Amino acid sequence: MDHGTYDEHQDYSERQCSPEPDYLIALRRATHQKLIHPRMNSGWLQGRFLSMISKLVKPDRILELGTYSGYSALCLAEGLREGGEFISLEKNDELEPFHQRHLHVSDPGKRIQVIYGLAMDILPELKGSFDLIYLDADKENYLTYYPNLKTLLASGGLLLIDNMLWEGKVLSPVSEGDTQTEAIVGLTNIIKEDDEMEHVLLPLRDGLMLVRKR
Ligand SMILES: C[S@@+](CC[C@H](N)C(=O)[O-])C[C@H]1O[C@@H](n2cnc3c(N)ncnc32)[C@H](O)[C@@H]1O
Repeated sequence: MDHGTYDEHQDYSERQCSPEPDYLIALRRATHQKLIHPRMNSGWLQGRFLSMISKLVKPDRILELGTYSGYSALCLAEGLREGGEFISLEKNDELEPFHQRHLHVSDPGKRIQVIYGLAMDILPELKGSFDLIYLDADKENYLTYYPNLKTLLASGGLLLIDNMLWEGKVLSPVSEGDTQTEAIVGLTNIIKEDDEMEHVLLPLRDGLMLVRKR
């Protein structure tokens, strides 16, 4: 008996999730109308998961690498404590007018501070620690970001890393010159050997890894 494909399971799961708030539906629509590569958005299923995790962690400070349209940032902001701080890093400053018109217009969106520039340059400048970090930027630098992110993560804090299945490319030997898959596999191996961290890889969408600092 056929019980559906992996994609059908994800679609079914999505339909059983809580609805997106209206401001997220509006942002998703604007993303599809105004930006290229709208598929980079985390989407409904993963977005509801990020929101749920953030509400459980109740972070005072959130850091995100890779804002794009701000969809995942809005989901994570749902759990940010009153008076908390949310910093999201985005290399593409051409997104700023979009963020002004479509991201910073809702109450959660007003709490998100986007810093434009390369994450690698900005990370060493950040002060203090973060309770929740979401890594969703350039895959080829995932491994390079890890020491900085580990330092910035509070004890008991949670690092979420997207695309850790990388469309299944992690299952095969890495092709020569494929620096993205190489970095993702490299980071997975480093985390597995890191006694200071506990981790779980969920086959949600493109693979979401949860890494908790002990
Ligand atoms: C997959 S998208 C992020 C999607 C977003 N987190 C969401 O789920 O709605 C990745 C973003 O990272 C940004 N990015 C890529 N390399 C970066 C870097 N070195 N520093 C900062 N941002 C970067 C890209 O411009 C892009 O907007």
